[in-house]
Amino acid sequence: MDFLKAISVRESSYLKGTIEIQGSKNTVLPIIAATVLTDGISVIHNCPDIKDVEVMCELLQCLNIKTCYKDHVLSIDTRKAQYAMLPYELTGKLRSSVLMLGAMLGRWGRAEIGMPGGCTIGTRPIDIHLEGFSRMNVDICMKDHLLCCDSFYLQGCDFHLRYPSVGATENLLLAACGAKGRTILRGAAKEPEIIELCNYLQSIGVLIDGIGSDVLVIKGTKYLCCADYINVYDRIVAGTYLLMAAAIPSELLLTGIDDIHYIKNILKVCAQLGLNVIRFDRCLHVWSNGIVAPGKFATGIYPEFPTDLMPVLISVLLRAGGDSQVTETVFENRFSVVDELKKLDGKLYVKGNTVFIEKTDQLCGHTVKATDLRQGAALIVAGLMAFGYTTITDTSYIDRGYEDIVGDLNRVGAEITYI
Ligand code: UD1
Repeated sequence: MDFLKAISVRESSYLKGTIEIQGSKNTVLPIIAATVLTDGISVIHNCPDIKDVEVMCELLQCLNIKTCYKDHVLSIDTRKAQYAMLPYELTGKLRSSVLMLGAMLGRWGRAEIGMPGGCTIGTRPIDIHLEGFSRMNVDICMKDHLLCCDSFYLQGCDFHLRYPSVGATENLLLAACGAKGRTILRGAAKEPEIIELCNYLQSIGVLIDGIGSDVLVIKGTKYLCCADYINVYDRIVAGTYLLMAAAIPSELLLTGIDDIHYIKNILKVCAQLGLNVIRFDRCLHVWSNGIVAPGKFATGIYPEFPTDLMPVLISVLLRAGGDSQVTETVFENRFSVVDELKKLDGKLYVKGNTVFIEKTDQLCGHTVKATDLRQGAALIVAGLMAFGYTTITDTSYIDRGYEDIVGDLNRVGAEITYI
């Protein structure tokens, strides 16, 4: 990754124009992994042009799976797929590489992969994933820094997830597709990404009951077909621009929002902050005078406010006319935005798992450092609010999930550029 990349952004007094919301990163990555279960050519439409998709395709290529990406259409040809080990040099580049475990177990009954990477937002253990696999009759060990999973006879099971982990639910769903008999996942995650993955798995021939609930019943089969998939919009990217529009006087049209349900809670928080929203067709017309109402907020599992937008919400609350609080309940160490916002003269501090944001008269441009994907986006939003110019360094993290944040903001009138 080119960590030296940097972005310069100037205070913005008004944003106006249209932003097309890209396809979802967190939805498409598990679906790319799921294609490993199939034998043929799959086509994924509205696939975002982001670094994580590129790396996921490189992982497939290690398995002799051909991928072709053009104009947001990703074709995946699994007809000559061959089992192989996946090296840490690739798996360490993203969190979703862990999903190759479930997909490879589902197809070959075994997997050897390097440990997953991803944003440093906590310890991010995978114990629930592995507990579920071992209940499916998988032997697990570490060998030469590789996580080795092997099952002579992958067996469906009745497993209770002690926390509704998104990644563990996805991984166990993938393995269950190739397991003998029925798998019941209790306490499963209910995030939109899970619903989309279940719908895709159904389209390739897996029988799943309970989609959208916390009990999923999966009937495994070895005979899966290929299917095309039209990716949904990225609810976190949409949420980033919605929150930004609450903090900066603006009039924006966000397009490509096909299912408003996925962002209901984000819209509720934005309305609380003072953003006006009208929905028509697949668009949201949003506007504000940039006056932000203070409040107390908390992140949570879906349908609560998403943890991924917590750093952006914190930036926005620095504009509020009073003190605010944001409590993080999903990850234990996701507050790296706080120290960077202090460099912009933000008045805020962390106590326990809550960030206290005090009324800040004016943020002032400075040099700040992106340390993860969403924190980086939050710093850009803060830069739009800060007097003068703000430089954000190490912005390659942002490329992992935002297709063209600089272009999107330029097109609505922001002064923002790569330096
Ligand atoms: C996914 C999303 C991420 C989002 C998160 C929560 C992707 C690529 N990433 O991450 O953007 O913020 O869901 O919505 O889709 N946990 C354990 N043991 C496990 C697994 C998780 O203790 O085996 C804990 C984690 O440390 C964390 C919590 O569960 O505190 C949530 O993690 P999880 O839902 O698994 O998030 P990810 O799938 O990693």
